Amino acid sequence: MRAPKYKWQPTTAEIAAATGLLPEDVERFDHNTSPFRTGWAAEVAATALADVNEYPGASYRPLREAAAKLCGLQPEQIVPGAGADEMILLSARAFLELGDTAIASTPTYPLYEIATVQAGGVFQPVPTDPPSFNYPADAVIRAARDADLTWICAPSNPIGNAVDDDVVEAVIAATDGLVVIDAAYAEFADTDWSSLVDRHHNAVVLRTMSKAFGLAGTRVGYAMAHPDLITEIDGIRPPGSISSISAAIAIAALQRPDAMENTVRQIQALRTELSDSLAGLGFRVLPSQTNFVLCEVGRNAHELAGQLMGEGLVVRKFPDDGPLAGYLRFTVRSAAAQTRLITTMERYLP
Ligand SMILES: Cc1ncc(COP(=O)(O)O)c(C=O)c1O
Repeated sequence: MRAPKYKWQPTTAEIAAATGLLPEDVERFDHNTSPFRTGWAAEVAATALADVNEYPGASYRPLREAAAKLCGLQPEQIVPGAGADEMILLSARAFLELGDTAIASTPTYPLYEIATVQAGGVFQPVPTDPPSFNYPADAVIRAARDADLTWICAPSNPIGNAVDDDVVEAVIAATDGLVVIDAAYAEFADTDWSSLVDRHHNAVVLRTMSKAFGLAGTRVGYAMAHPDLITEIDGIRPPGSISSISAAIAIAALQRPDAMENTVRQIQALRTELSDSLAGLGFRVLPSQTNFVLCEVGRNAHELAGQLMGEGLVVRKFPDDGPLAGYLRFTVRSAAAQTRLITTMERYLP
């Protein structure tokens, strides 16, 4: 089976060129990144630059230690990589053999299918039903029994809803295969899946520095699992996919979780404002445990996304032939950016 191709989003510079706007006037409501700049990182980067002639230490031991301390685990239960994305690709390559089956509730993060097929596996979707898009726990548990790998996006992108702890436990208990829990948005949901790793030999939990920590540009993420599984991933990962500068910034961020928690509280407050404003425009807004909200806009969703794009406001739309055709997804941004979004939408709505 040919792997589906990842669809790259246009860059801010490309959008600016196409719309005639300045890059600083383009607002990304589509990337689920943080609206807050991490100014302190400049000093850490400057210190790390002094040794930029050398490779980063291939074991990334200090980064493993910092992540392990924050998660209450041992460094042997952690392996870092270039974002959660690299950990998804490595998990598929490490744990799937030719013809193996991997499942996930859909719609979901597209890289699970791409990683599965690239690794020679077969991807089987377990559909989630509109309009609630509640996690299809029973169907996933049934399908997981015969699956070699189960991807769980918790909380879910693009829906935004959480997956209950007992559902995750039930999926892990139901299968002899591996369960990969992509917890990219866990900090916004007050969920900590770290303890799963101590209790289950077949669970891998993925984390990222891109969302709550506001460090998407550093490209750092990590996997947590039993040391046996970590050894498998370690054995196939590239020796240096995280630059020494990125590793230094990630370590500093992991050592100051208070800053991240403060950011999360601000984003949660802004999320409430954004949801209320979108609901005020007459749209159905789905509950969110993440840094974005999914919104049912109706038949004109793509047209509206195009109009907003023309104004430099980039929102996420979904394929015409899928269950989210009439939906748009909005990342939480600054209060000013959100006001600009809502007032612009008001102009375009009938
Ligand atoms: C569910 C999910 N997993 C992984 C990623 C990628 O994270 P990273 O930037 O760490 O590669 C994203 C980014 O949007 C995501 O939504």
